[in-house]
Amino acid sequence: MGVQTTSLQWPEPPVLACPVLKLLHGQTALVTGASSGIGRALAIALGHAGANVVINYLGSPEKAEEVAKEIQRCGSRAISVAADVSKPDQVQLMFQQTVAEFGRLDILVNNAGIQLDAAFEDLTLEQWQRVMDVNLTGPFLCCQEAVRLFKKQGIDASLSCAAGKILCISSVHEVIPWAGHVNYAASKGGLMLLMKSLAQEVAPQRIRVNSIAPGAIRTPTNTAAWNTREAYDDLLKLIPQKRIGEPEEIGRAAVWLASDQSDYVHGITLFIDGGMTLYPGFETGG
Ligand code: BGC
Repeated sequence: MGVQTTSLQWPEPPVLACPVLKLLHGQTALVTGASSGIGRALAIALGHAGANVVINYLGSPEKAEEVAKEIQRCGSRAISVAADVSKPDQVQLMFQQTVAEFGRLDILVNNAGIQLDAAFEDLTLEQWQRVMDVNLTGPFLCCQEAVRLFKKQGIDASLSCAAGKILCISSVHEVIPWAGHVNYAASKGGLMLLMKSLAQEVAPQRIRVNSIAPGAIRTPTNTAAWNTREAYDDLLKLIPQKRIGEPEEIGRAAVWLASDQSDYVHGITLFIDGGMTLYPGFETGG
């Protein structure tokens, strides 16, 4: 008794639209909070992979323009657009500007995020609210605009076999509790289920939604954690690989996760953290 396969109608595997080196050739990506840190590296990596890039920023046009120039140097197009991602009217305008400039959007990267730290008893409502506004309401508003646009555009098979891709830049603190950073950890935990629930909802429309969760990466946000010998040595106790991560390492993963190379990947969080989520305290004990 052999296994009968001949009568089964398997769907055809997707045809990958992108060449290997310029994985995102001709696509358009919008990266929020892209004038510095991880956002900057994401924008440059996507640009180097052939995407036109919208560099969203708030407050530092010169730094955003410098990112745009770096992307243009390698042959992709780039514009910088100021917008507070927590304000619906500004988000709508940013998406309109994207379509006006590049004709469409293929990739949204929700990167903009802030930390406003305080011991729990001292945490003000303003600190709580602002972190939620930027880290959680921002992705909500941007995802909503992106999903509406992706559905309107449909699939352009010459660019990608998906109708659109969304990446959320989360944090190891979507799963690691963080004393003294309750607002931040709560926003990232919320982002995780926003991402997964949306991924489930829009997968049938060939829209892919995933997250990248960086650990300690050398950026302006966490300078205090790595810019003195003492702080750096302390930090390494939390990282099995015994080094801080670099923003470019997040950029490289984002290119793959936004490309057709990962077409069957929905609703995951890809941790890029040197092992920080592996309970490093158990390395020598337990
Ligand atoms: C935070 C950093 C921190 C890292 C690891 C990130 O989400 O933004 O400040 O160093 O998590 O704790």
